[in-house]
Amino acid sequence: MRFTRSQKLYQRSCRTTPGGIHSNVRKNWRPHPMFYERGKGSHVWDADGNEFIDYVLARGPLLLGHLPGPVIETVKRQLDRGLMYAGQHELEIEAAEKFCELIPCADMVRFAGSGSEAIHAAIRLARGITGRTKILRFEGHYHGWFDNIFWNYAPPIDKAGPREAPNPIPVSGGQLASDGEHLIIRPWNDLNLIEDVFKRFPGEIAAVLMEPIMCNTGCIMPRPDYLEGIRRLCTDNGALLIFDEVITGFRVSLGGAQEYFGVTPDIVACAKGMAGGFPVSALAGKEEFMQAFGDLSVTHSGTYNSNVPCMAACLAAMNMLSADKGALLKHAHDLGQQLIEGIKEAARKAGKDLHVRGLPMVFHISFNDAQEIVDYRSFTSRDVEAYNRFWSALQDRGIRTIPEGLWFVSTAHTQKDVDQTLAVVDEALKEV
Ligand SMILES: Cc1ncc(COP(=O)(O)O)c(C=O)c1O
Repeated sequence: MRFTRSQKLYQRSCRTTPGGIHSNVRKNWRPHPMFYERGKGSHVWDADGNEFIDYVLARGPLLLGHLPGPVIETVKRQLDRGLMYAGQHELEIEAAEKFCELIPCADMVRFAGSGSEAIHAAIRLARGITGRTKILRFEGHYHGWFDNIFWNYAPPIDKAGPREAPNPIPVSGGQLASDGEHLIIRPWNDLNLIEDVFKRFPGEIAAVLMEPIMCNTGCIMPRPDYLEGIRRLCTDNGALLIFDEVITGFRVSLGGAQEYFGVTPDIVACAKGMAGGFPVSALAGKEEFMQAFGDLSVTHSGTYNSNVPCMAACLAAMNMLSADKGALLKHAHDLGQQLIEGIKEAARKAGKDLHVRGLPMVFHISFNDAQEIVDYRSFTSRDVEAYNRFWSALQDRGIRTIPEGLWFVSTAHTQKDVDQTLAVVDEALKEV
């Protein structure tokens, strides 16, 4: 496959844009960040005209595939009527009503533009309501790039400190040590350690924040009873439980991971997947907490919040996802399951030590795991070089996946896509 035009565009972009990209995570592409021209359904075309089956899906938001018809049509109609008013419009009520109908913990919701913003608001809300400062977060979880939470996402192991009580480590230059002062960092999936934390800091913890499935680090599932245990500890100690469902919301189940696992948080942040690719996020939760925004004691603002086209997209996407008892999601789930089983079978036949974790709608593939992967540190035992080779072999054959090993499946994928992908996987495994 040739990427000549992409390469030229990348070089040109580097002259006016730092790194040639507008989000740092896009740097991690080989042989260089790529340029794309078109997407339709489950396929995407790059600037050289190469066609790919897309399992990146913009890193999650394209749950309905590229350009889902009903979403695009609705937005087009709304565009004739105005973009935003710094005032209210009826669509935002309809979107809020639908959201609260679908997400179990949501009595009330506020809309925003990105996952990072929703998490930021969640943290502020938890501190505002409880009057406490400490937030318990976990190694390997990603909650956006804002200063007070962008810590210990992928810390270098030699600097990470003891497993039981990791050192707070900022991810980026420019973050202040004081931003992390009120964070308590722990490994995920170890309930005993969290019990200890609540004993050590009685009455100090405002919230426990987590991805209910650790999608951003290996798509690691919670151990049985782990979420229930954390729920109980939060309730017993007056701390709020915040689920970051930016990825899992609407994807692993219509009502998100909280519905899938039957564990209800106090507050949830959702984003990717809820608006057909348009930039919408949501912060939602129990009325008693959310009313702190309503009585203005805690501030949540944003010029672009609940703008008309985004609300139109959000409502149309939620309507699509919930139609026919979630038939679209079920379709994607079935195809994802076939993919997982097919990939595992291909690896078994090829004699490769390949592991898949997660659920059919979002899963992670790695090779040669030295140990059972249950948290960030065990995740670092995988063979990164082996996956890199697999990834490049897939890209060269028209299968587009995220370089770190996460796969997203959309409702627009087809049986043909899955069959084609599995045929390519057979070939690609030979290069591992
Ligand atoms: C779990 C999770 N939380 C928060 C975020 C931040 O969302 P955004 O990139 O929209 O700010 C992401 C983004 O990947 C995410 O995966």
